[in-house]
Amino acid sequence: MSKKYKIAVIGGDGTGPEVVAEGLKVLKVVAKKHNFEYGLKDFDFTGQRYLKTGKLVSDEDIEELKTFDSIYLGAVGDPDVKPGIIEHGVLLKLRFALDQYINLRPVKLYPNVWTPVRDKGPAEIDFVVVRENSEGLYVGTGGYLKKGTSDEVATQVSVNTRKGVERCLRYAFEYTRKRNKRKQLTLVGKTNVLTYAWDLWERAFHEIGEKEYKDIKLDYAHVDATCMWFVKNPEWFDVIVTDNMFGDIITDLGAMIQGGMGIAAGGNINPEGVSMFEPIGGSAPKYTGKNVINPLAAIGALQMLLEELGEDKAAADIEQAIIKTVAKMPSQAAGKMGMGTREVGDTVVANL
Ligand code: IPM
Ligand code: MN
Repeated sequence: MSKKYKIAVIGGDGTGPEVVAEGLKVLKVVAKKHNFEYGLKDFDFTGQRYLKTGKLVSDEDIEELKTFDSIYLGAVGDPDVKPGIIEHGVLLKLRFALDQYINLRPVKLYPNVWTPVRDKGPAEIDFVVVRENSEGLYVGTGGYLKKGTSDEVATQVSVNTRKGVERCLRYAFEYTRKRNKRKQLTLVGKTNVLTYAWDLWERAFHEIGEKEYKDIKLDYAHVDATCMWFVKNPEWFDVIVTDNMFGDIITDLGAMIQGGMGIAAGGNINPEGVSMFEPIGGSAPKYTGKNVINPLAAIGALQMLLEELGEDKAAADIEQAIIKTVAKMPSQAAGKMGMGTREVGDTVVANL
């Protein structure tokens, strides 16, 4: 009997629905080929709905989403809505309420994809960032004192719990072992300045690593130096583990060296619950409805979604089809792909 998955679809804002539509074309074909079934349900969590109804993601929505096997997300962010509202009310609400404590972001340059880093190719640019996704500066701890006066104080506190750090580190160690490439895990932090948070991270990293993962090489890099090395020596990295804020920042740089936001995918993972997969770029409002945005990041997110569901063969097939598709594209940038959004999707499907 073939498996049947329940997948929640959140097209979201801007170009989100367009790129998700291409991913769903691909899903239809791989499901048939690899003999699994799926049911889709659309969720309208958009800035436009918020403007009309005041609704974001409710606790009832979260309960409903918990009954799904996976979530496929396009993009969030609407220029008509004040910055922060959709980000907090939709994306961060989903990540936090579903306890998706890992943000997994592979940085992999495919053959024939242009990278701004000269003299580096697919052999050098191939690593994975494990970003902690439930703590740090993202918890929203802090506040104002004497707001609006000349004595105003604003604090924004980074929260790092032993439990939260440990579960993230363990995931990263397991991932490094399973990836089985260079078997090196780099902790990316700022131990020289942020001496409380990164001391906790560093102690937990060594305790867990030295006791339970003797087969993994432990490595450390400061976050600023990591930015330098992404450009200078990206081949030094295998798997990186870092906190929420640093992970957010370095993965935008990572996306650039792998060919841009058009191709960078990621997963918000709750290994014990429901995970959510998305292109790591934004909603690109200026490209909305123009058939110019690159859907490959969304198709890569679908690949990750299927991998998480255990459909490894289907996922591997999608990756091969992406590799064949990029070889025919002069650029991964919106409007410069030599074809439109839908044609990129069709090409991936043809290559399956
Ligand atoms: C990302 C985004 C989000 C983040 C924003 C939209 C809240 O930049 O997924 O990297 O900061 O995590
Ligand atoms: Mn980001």
